Amino acid sequence: MKPIRTALVGCGKVASLHAAALAALPESTLVGVCDSALERAQQFSARFGGRPFRDLAEMIRDTGAEALFVCTPHPLHREAVVVAAQAGCHVMVEKPLAASLADCDAMLQAAQKSGVTLSVMSQRRFYEPVQRMKAAIDEGRIGRPILGLFLMFSWRDEAYYQSDPWRGKWATEGGGVLVNQSPHQLDLLRWLMGDIQEISGCWANLNHPYIEVDDTAVATLKFRNGGLGSIVTSLSQKPGLFTKVHIHGSNGSSIGVETDRGATFIAGVSKIAEPPLNDLWTIPGEEQRLGEFQATDRAYFQTIDPVAHYHALQIQEFLQAIQAGRPPLVTGADGRAVVEMFTAIYESNRTGRSVALPIVI
Ligand SMILES: NC(=O)c1ccc[n+]([C@@H]2O[C@H](COP(=O)([O-])OP(=O)(O)OC[C@H]3O[C@@H](n4cnc5c(N)ncnc54)[C@H](O)[C@@H]3O)[C@@H](O)[C@H]2O)c1
Repeated sequence: MKPIRTALVGCGKVASLHAAALAALPESTLVGVCDSALERAQQFSARFGGRPFRDLAEMIRDTGAEALFVCTPHPLHREAVVVAAQAGCHVMVEKPLAASLADCDAMLQAAQKSGVTLSVMSQRRFYEPVQRMKAAIDEGRIGRPILGLFLMFSWRDEAYYQSDPWRGKWATEGGGVLVNQSPHQLDLLRWLMGDIQEISGCWANLNHPYIEVDDTAVATLKFRNGGLGSIVTSLSQKPGLFTKVHIHGSNGSSIGVETDRGATFIAGVSKIAEPPLNDLWTIPGEEQRLGEFQATDRAYFQTIDPVAHYHALQIQEFLQAIQAGRPPLVTGADGRAVVEMFTAIYESNRTGRSVALPIVI
């Protein structure tokens, strides 16, 4: 099949993962790279190919790009998606889809109106231990998922928040640990447990006095299937410990993944040192498989660059979905659902009440 003409906007840290994949995948021809700082686009162009641009609309027009990858800070995602959708370009956006539900709705509407595909990055869905959990749930091997937990004990220091001027501020980042570091596991929790009915929660800044936003949040959830859930997410543990998602089923069995060991990686700065692994697997008759899964995943981890690999897998799946005319694994609606989760926690903290979902604005 003919490769798709691809382009990206925001030539910063995470964009190097997109550009590397777009330059290498047979489904893509990288035709343009755009940044408001033109020298960054020029550096990307020299490294990965594609013509450099400062203006997004001009890049899409001049290159005939068919799919755009948005790697700008979150409050800027909306503008790029609307410009691309209006030009008839399919769009994949870095997580979170946006910092607000109003932005999400504008993006979803623009994509629907133009008939283009909108997707959001959630590369941990492609981790083998996570895929294994999804298959076990879909095949009914844990019964019904009745209790879901997302736990993150991670770390970010002052240098991280000073590394880019947009970090750590409500106006330019839209939030803290909930908006920036947690979307991956918020997405996994909902993907594995199902739709959410109600959330209550609260947040605090416990030990990062040099930022405005949350470094820690906790929440309780009720799912539409009658199940319950719990979230504890924090950037206040030094050294960072782990990030896990555990799902317990109605037949009594438990399955889980440690998505990250230590602090979660910073794209373009730190590496993934330890493989994502299943850390719980008590499905009747499958108890012996945990060691087997871990050995397989440890061996595979040695054969890949994990930071780049899972981005490339999701980008390839998105491009193949466009070629096949089917929805991608992670849709724009999935991206909105994550924004709805952190919006509900902020709202619950503000009012002291639980928040019913969906939030319609
Ligand atoms: N999926 C992941 O694991 C992952 C990892 C890191 C970051 N991210 C997400 O990627 C996004 C970018 O993060 P980053 O760490 O790469 O940020 P960054 O600051 O390193 O890069 C952002 C780039 O956007 C450019 N930019 C800013 N405004 C622009 C505009 N109006 N037009 C064009 N370019 C503009 C900046 O010059 C910069 O080069 C964020 O939404 C973040 O949450 C995702």
